[in-house]
Amino acid sequence: MTSLSANAAPLPGAPFVCYQNGQLMVEGVALSELARQHGTPLFVYSKAAILAALAAYQRGLAGREALICYAMKANSSLAILKLLADAGCGFDIVSAGELERALAAGATPSKIVFSGVGKTRAEMRRALEAGVGCFNIESMAELDVLSGVAVACGQTAPVSIRVNPNVDAKTHPYISTGLKGNKFGISHDEALAAYRHAASLPGLRVVGIDCHIGSQITESAPYLEAMDRVLDLVTQIEAAGIPIHHIDFGGGLGIDYNGDTPPAADVLWQQLLGKLDARGFGNRKIMIEPGRSLVGNAGVCLTEVLFLKPGEQKNFCIVDAAMNDLPRPALYEAFHRIVPLAEANPAAQTTTYDVVGPVCESGDWLGRDRALAVQQGDVLAVLSAGAYCMSMASNYNTRPRAAEVLVDGSSARVIRQREAVQDLWRGESV
Ligand code: LLP
Repeated sequence: MTSLSANAAPLPGAPFVCYQNGQLMVEGVALSELARQHGTPLFVYSKAAILAALAAYQRGLAGREALICYAMKANSSLAILKLLADAGCGFDIVSAGELERALAAGATPSKIVFSGVGKTRAEMRRALEAGVGCFNIESMAELDVLSGVAVACGQTAPVSIRVNPNVDAKTHPYISTGLKGNKFGISHDEALAAYRHAASLPGLRVVGIDCHIGSQITESAPYLEAMDRVLDLVTQIEAAGIPIHHIDFGGGLGIDYNGDTPPAADVLWQQLLGKLDARGFGNRKIMIEPGRSLVGNAGVCLTEVLFLKPGEQKNFCIVDAAMNDLPRPALYEAFHRIVPLAEANPAAQTTTYDVVGPVCESGDWLGRDRALAVQQGDVLAVLSAGAYCMSMASNYNTRPRAAEVLVDGSSARVIRQREAVQDLWRGESV
């Protein structure tokens, strides 16, 4: 047994996710009430938190020609997309499925950028037909195929080349993308030749340059280094007679999961714009593709304690959410804070638990060695669950995906119903 005082750090998501009068709230709504009404597991998001995160980017880019393309892979629920579209965002998509979702939520096609290393011809055709603003191209072969598809459709495709600046984003290897050993982008050394090739192809129109070095980046230095490398290339490409109208700097800014201290979006962008200005590129259109930093700390996942299971080596707190709902710990050994809905008394005696789900795998854990004062039937909140949780959820173990609720002030509405078990075998036959 230990005491809870070590858990006193401010909650990720504060002030939108915080205790008020001992109750964990999202904005003006008590989470215990939402759990009672809608059951668990339940994702709950704060509209104000999303808009505040967006506002930091908007402040940082104020006065510039800029487009924020939300990387919708982070959380692609229609209501979240609609909220961001209404706030002026475009979208970064990586599949035809994401394209249809974005359009269904009311996205403006010309504000969509299409990223990804493996676009199919059918996806290219659909994106051309919809009128997406830019294809971010990741290989020489893709340039040729897209040009052919565009010519066959009687169009020219607007393209950027995603360059791989060979910068270490200092993040988890599975979510680092800007190093030579990664599958992403065209290497710095080949970029000029790729631009010359793109400019020579009949179906393409070069509009910009693109770069994305990784995700959950918590320092400014890798960004600043990557910006320098990209601007070196812009100089070379334009000297070869190919104008670069926009610079897309990708996403990747990290969030606080466990006392992490990434730079604020506005501070980072002031630094990056300082560099652009100093090098004479301040007049270019800026595009960015943030995902996690817009939604990650706007969401929590509520989960009920099913059983407490003391053991010889470990105590287990078995909850009703699992790796199919919250895959990040199993995939990346990611840390998410897990807190009770009723604020614990700092003097309360706690027990150290591994918080685990019902899925039949030892990898199905949500948190390890957590000091909790919990009882069977309590509801816990897994924090920082707005990004890469619901969008990566699966039906493993034939578990229906959770419901989602969006809170706005003191009101809350269901934005996705809990999946019905029958939904899980739609399209199957015996
Ligand atoms: N642009 C491109 C081309 C990307 O590949 C990504 C993320 C983003 C933008 C958005 O990055 P963000 O701002 O969200 O860091 N599932 C992992 C993260 C995978 C990120 C993949 N690419 C996780 O849960 O940590």
